[in-house]
Amino acid sequence: MFRFDPFSPETDADPFPAYQVLRDEHPCFWSDDAQMWVLSRYDDVVAALDDWETFSSAQGNMMTELPGRAGATLGTTDPPHHDRLRDLIQYAFVRRNLDSLTEPIRELAEQAVAPLAEHEQFDFIGDFSSKFTVRVLFAALGLPLGDEAIVREKAVLMVQNDAATGAKGPEHIAAYEWMQDYASSVIEERRAHPRNDLISHFSLAEIDGDRLDEREVLLTTTTLIMAGVESLGGFMSMFGLNMADFPDARRECVDNPDLLRNAIEESLRYNTSAQRFKRCLTRDHTLHGQTMCEGDFVCLAFGSANRDERRYPDPDTYDIHRRTKGHLGFGGSVHLCLGTTIARMSVKIAMQAFHDVVPEYERVNGTLPWMPSSTFRSPMRLDLVRT
Ligand code: HEM
Repeated sequence: MFRFDPFSPETDADPFPAYQVLRDEHPCFWSDDAQMWVLSRYDDVVAALDDWETFSSAQGNMMTELPGRAGATLGTTDPPHHDRLRDLIQYAFVRRNLDSLTEPIRELAEQAVAPLAEHEQFDFIGDFSSKFTVRVLFAALGLPLGDEAIVREKAVLMVQNDAATGAKGPEHIAAYEWMQDYASSVIEERRAHPRNDLISHFSLAEIDGDRLDEREVLLTTTTLIMAGVESLGGFMSMFGLNMADFPDARRECVDNPDLLRNAIEESLRYNTSAQRFKRCLTRDHTLHGQTMCEGDFVCLAFGSANRDERRYPDPDTYDIHRRTKGHLGFGGSVHLCLGTTIARMSVKIAMQAFHDVVPEYERVNGTLPWMPSSTFRSPMRLDLVRT
């Protein structure tokens, strides 16, 4: 009998054969292992994202949710509550003026890549991409320099689950508590001494007399640190992996760095790092002959939708020239990722700097250690050698 367990290490390592069966034979599948429905076809996932009144985020959106987040912050609320939060936080993104981060990001990329000039072999993630992505987030949010290593460690733990049980373990909850205490102290400091950074802007943002309350500011800060540090770091490791595995595509990008823009979109489609998020049904809903009941959880498998042959011809081929329009690498509809601009800009600048120093490389090991997370998918280490 067919099973699909989004919490298993086998799924972390290679979800694609199971996705193919789900799309072809069980497009609306009840997973006993996960105790939730799984939608895997592109059109069904998009329809669910658009129908947020039926597919609600208010019971949490991560496959295993952290305590206190559901119903309280951007990814875990529905309109109109969500619209109010999004307007106030987006206002902060506009005020921060992300374009002005281009030069600082370029400098951070050059600093992060410089030590690699000395090395034949290195870990792309530990020696380069995670250092870079954390520093970008520190610059954008306004976190105090010196805390990068500990903040990354806790942010990564927050999105993981226990490899054996699939649930959040004490170390994941403890990391979340640590992050809340940390965020509280930064918010207090920023309020006292506001600067041109995201935390200052959204903790003081006001639209028609409305402001985020204390808890909203705290949850927004922890969500942005987690989303920023882990989503950006995770995607960049996936992109590094694709560039190593597809040398012809990489050479094209080295010769013509403008192509990186499209290669990034193709990696978001082909190797989606934000694999799946969940929703909860507010009413009964029938799809492909199956009736899902009010209160049931539904997994939206973005990683499968992005490989749906009904939407993308030859979806298992990595093709940096394809039209990737509408991919779900950043989700979609009302919850479309708020970090798209900073993510695209950072990865493009970083890979261009990386290719200036390391233009030819390949993977050292065939087997990768995948992060134990039912929501995100990315390797924890990526050993590369110059060729
Ligand atoms: C390449 C890196 C990234 C990827 C792949 C990614 C992916 C996603 C996805 C798939 C969602 C939708 C979740 C859902 O539908 O429930 C999302 C939402 C979100 N992301 Fe990202 N993200 C990335 C980077 C960032 C960064 C850098 C930030 C912040 C600086 C950020 C902040 C957010 C926020 C706040 C939301 C919630 C938006 C809402 O519900 O209105 N993300 N992200």
